Amino acid sequence: AGGREVLGEVQPFLTLIESRDDLALQLKNNYPLKDIFVVRGDAEENAFVKEELARLMAEELTEALSPGTVVSVAGGSTMALVSKFLRPKHDNLLFVPARGGLGEEPAYQSNDIVANLAEAAEGQHRILYAPDSISEASLESLKAEPMVREIIDLNRRSAFLIHGIGDALEMARRRKVDEETLRILTEGEAVGETFGFYFNADGELVHKVKTIGLQLGDLDKKESIFAVAGGESKKEAVKAYLKLAPENTILIIDEVIARHLLA
Ligand code: F6P
Repeated sequence: AGGREVLGEVQPFLTLIESRDDLALQLKNNYPLKDIFVVRGDAEENAFVKEELARLMAEELTEALSPGTVVSVAGGSTMALVSKFLRPKHDNLLFVPARGGLGEEPAYQSNDIVANLAEAAEGQHRILYAPDSISEASLESLKAEPMVREIIDLNRRSAFLIHGIGDALEMARRRKVDEETLRILTEGEAVGETFGFYFNADGELVHKVKTIGLQLGDLDKKESIFAVAGGESKKEAVKAYLKLAPENTILIIDEVIARHLLA
């Protein structure tokens, strides 16, 4: 534990983590979540901090898993790093995409990420063939497809969800949303986004991507939700997210966000 205090000591992996002390403890007094972990630094300034967030997610998830567990998985660049740190430990794990396409580039889509997680953990995965923002009618007929049905059911009974949190307008830009959606987000003062749900500073829903899979209302039925985010630009998003996060949330953030939450 002596190596936990400063960045850049002999064991950099250990020195970055401030999990059970200082900031994390103060945060736990203010936010009634299942657990909170803080990595020193700013993930946007230092790629190593982002990797640490992903590594913590992989480790904490592995602790929580048991043989045969189903895990719902969201997309994003932070989530895409998690497989790098996941190791085989439990038999018959199953990773499923939490929701259909959200307009992300392939490497950040949950379909790709579940495949990598399954490979790393020597488990199984499922792919969800569902495009983003399709018409209500197409959405309904897709839901009747047995392959899609299976994913919906798996997401209903998954024990865990792992996901990232993003800045609303940054995510909208990255997904190249249309003018109308941009107008809704701006007028609704959206600040944060998570797996297709855009919300304002009070944690109220402003817009959701029309696709299949997990809904916000499903979250409190899970054993745990692992939410990860780092970087100065995400601090308002995470603050707002915590207004809607259920108590079974395990939050993994960096120092720059932690300090903002305590300010
Ligand atoms: O697209 C999935 C997602 O988890 C979003 O819901 C979230 O806003 C985003 O990824 C975070 O992405 P990144 O880790 O690349 O910042």
